Amino acid sequence: MSRVFVTRRIPRVGLDRLAEESVRVRVGQPNDEAPVPRAVLEDGVRWCEVLLSLLTEPVDRALLTLNPALRGVANYAVGFNNIDVDAATELGIPVSNTPGVLTDTTADLTWALILAVARRIPEAHAYMTAGRYKLWGPNLLLGADVSPGGSGRRKVLGVIGYGRIGAAVARRAVGFDMDVLAYDPHARDRIDAAEHVRWAELDELLRRSDFVTLHPLLTPETRHLIDTRALQLMKRTAYLINVSRGPVVDEAALVHALRSHRIAGAALDVFEDEPAMAPGIAECDHVVLVPHIASASVDTRERMAVMAAENALAHLAGERAPNVINPEVYKSPAYRARLAHRR
Ligand code: GLV
Ligand code: GLV
Repeated sequence: MSRVFVTRRIPRVGLDRLAEESVRVRVGQPNDEAPVPRAVLEDGVRWCEVLLSLLTEPVDRALLTLNPALRGVANYAVGFNNIDVDAATELGIPVSNTPGVLTDTTADLTWALILAVARRIPEAHAYMTAGRYKLWGPNLLLGADVSPGGSGRRKVLGVIGYGRIGAAVARRAVGFDMDVLAYDPHARDRIDAAEHVRWAELDELLRRSDFVTLHPLLTPETRHLIDTRALQLMKRTAYLINVSRGPVVDEAALVHALRSHRIAGAALDVFEDEPAMAPGIAECDHVVLVPHIASASVDTRERMAVMAAENALAHLAGERAPNVINPEVYKSPAYRARLAHRR
């Protein structure tokens, strides 16, 4: 009988998919608001053949080394910065993620944030619910246009990180009559080939954009990509949106830029030291903050659960996982040794 350790509760359909194949499943933390204690995580990894992890669990070298029979890690997320993929590859452990299914849902949230921060929706909502609306007025809660609007000037959307999600965000900008710039050193070809998108170097993009939206993977290259220097290049009237990973932005530098009105506002789905927020950010004006919910639709989260389960089943069977991110591992002796491991 094969065993999958699921670190925290995923939607039922994913667990059912594993049960259909007679897999034994253990869930590390049944309480949705509590993390998995490290000791439980370690016990789980020793017990299982496949680890189904969430982005909240650091899957580091020490953890991966605990079990020579571990056949794979199936991450329930498209991002995989919580996993030491280099260590996994070296140890012969395939790692998979859940790409594609959450692209539209994440692009939609990005647009919800762009519109919410530009049009001050959270403030307006708080104004209503506090019973402060007494009289309509020409100066009440004025925001910024996303479309050409009153000025007739086409706004510029700057997309940093042009993977599936960045491209989906860019596509939606067509409906708002925006000019789209994109920067991604790994996607120059796709940016050049996209009809409504123009390539820009990072500094040019920062200087010209009215909305800068972040969609890269978190890597050493993109950590603090948006720092004091980058924020200083942005227009004073520009907004920053981050739905990628918190550490792409130097959050303390962002707080400073917001306080000193160096930029017009920011909308964040992710935080540098998640779930904590940088001191002062919650008190800033023109800020919209949401708790890492970019892929949080019922349908998408269910589909992610099934995908993660399918990947876990392939890892168990010693077959190529549909969404493996380190396929070179399949050729390694370390991987074959794992499949042969008996306990
Ligand atoms: C969410 O942040 C994900 O990477 O899926
Ligand atoms: C606003 O409600 C308008 O009619 O202009």
